[in-house]
Amino acid sequence: MPEMFWELAADTWGDEERAAINRVMDSGRYTIGPEIAAFEKAFAEYHGKRHAVMVNSGSSANLAAVAALTYKKDNPLQPGDEVIVPAVSWATTYHPFQQYGMKLRFVDIELETLNIDTSQLDAALTPKTKAIVAVSILGNPAALDVIRAFADEHGLIMLEDNCESLDAELGGQKTGTFGDIGTFSFFFSHHISTGEGGMLITDDSELDALARGVRAHGWVRDMPDSDSMFPPGEDSFAEAYRFVIPGYNLRPQEINGATGLAQLAKLPAMTVQRRKNLTLFQDAFGDDERFLIQRENGKSSSFCFPMVIKQGCGLERADLFGPLKDAGIGFRMITGGNFPRHDVIKHFEYDIVGTLSNADIAHDRGFFVGNHPFDLSEQISRLRDILNQL
Ligand SMILES: Cc1ncc(COP(=O)(O)O)c(C=O)c1O
Repeated sequence: MPEMFWELAADTWGDEERAAINRVMDSGRYTIGPEIAAFEKAFAEYHGKRHAVMVNSGSSANLAAVAALTYKKDNPLQPGDEVIVPAVSWATTYHPFQQYGMKLRFVDIELETLNIDTSQLDAALTPKTKAIVAVSILGNPAALDVIRAFADEHGLIMLEDNCESLDAELGGQKTGTFGDIGTFSFFFSHHISTGEGGMLITDDSELDALARGVRAHGWVRDMPDSDSMFPPGEDSFAEAYRFVIPGYNLRPQEINGATGLAQLAKLPAMTVQRRKNLTLFQDAFGDDERFLIQRENGKSSSFCFPMVIKQGCGLERADLFGPLKDAGIGFRMITGGNFPRHDVIKHFEYDIVGTLSNADIAHDRGFFVGNHPFDLSEQISRLRDILNQL
């Protein structure tokens, strides 16, 4: 194996994160505490939201979000409810809905943006529709304004899975802030990394409290202003261990909060660099008739560089694998591909709205290479040379 010339994911930790980890060690407190609280506050402020709840992954953020929505007092999400979802996203965008008994309605994507085709939303709607999930794929904002308006028009809950698109913007508004809840991932390869980690943000105090309860065993102790929701008893001894909703332990550790704070401070500069690389990539491949590259909707935070090989252009995806491997360039499928094609779908209640022909093309003819918060001009021109020789 050649040494990797261009990885899919790169380490972005440095002196600031080392200092943050040392600060946690010096404090002697490792489980959830002031570092998490400080990161949550900073993250909420960064997004102009009232609440942010950190958990141990983006998948956990989606799980906590769906769980919280099922326990809310008015109009909760319930078993049998239908949820509109894009066909291309990550597995754990969908799994919580299966686990809580909802039925999914899969909608095709647009090949140009790789995001849900909003022209099909009306066809996806039924009297049982209760929620819609908006996913901005690989840094590129979905039509979040359109989806928000659709959700409002039909009284739907909008969950925004923004795990791939931290710091992207649509109409000057940050992605992740359009939904009733927005979720984020801080896994190693993402825009900021806390090793493992995730966050959900919301303006809704009830959802915030429920997510905090779900995060911590389902006990009332971690739920702010819970008195009206779960009136306290007389016995303070019992009160400290009172379980009120079926929860988990999704708590992050102090190291995740401390490194998150350090990474958040670096985020704007990292996004600027990612976007510079995106411009180089667009210049290199925008005119290549063989490939579709993602058309930006608003301002992408460019997670990576997806490419779809056009049908009939004489090039097959498998033709690329050898040359890319030989050059030490990492590549992989676009997010999870067309999700209903995975074996796990046999566990789901679901419908397909129309066809998923674009999701199939992304699944069968798409791939991506990495973007990183450092200059990639050399890498992009090497890729250009390799693909020119095919
Ligand atoms: C759209 C989407 N949702 C959720 C997740 C899950 O995040 P995590 O890996 O932190 O669990 C990912 C992971 O990359 C993702 O791409």
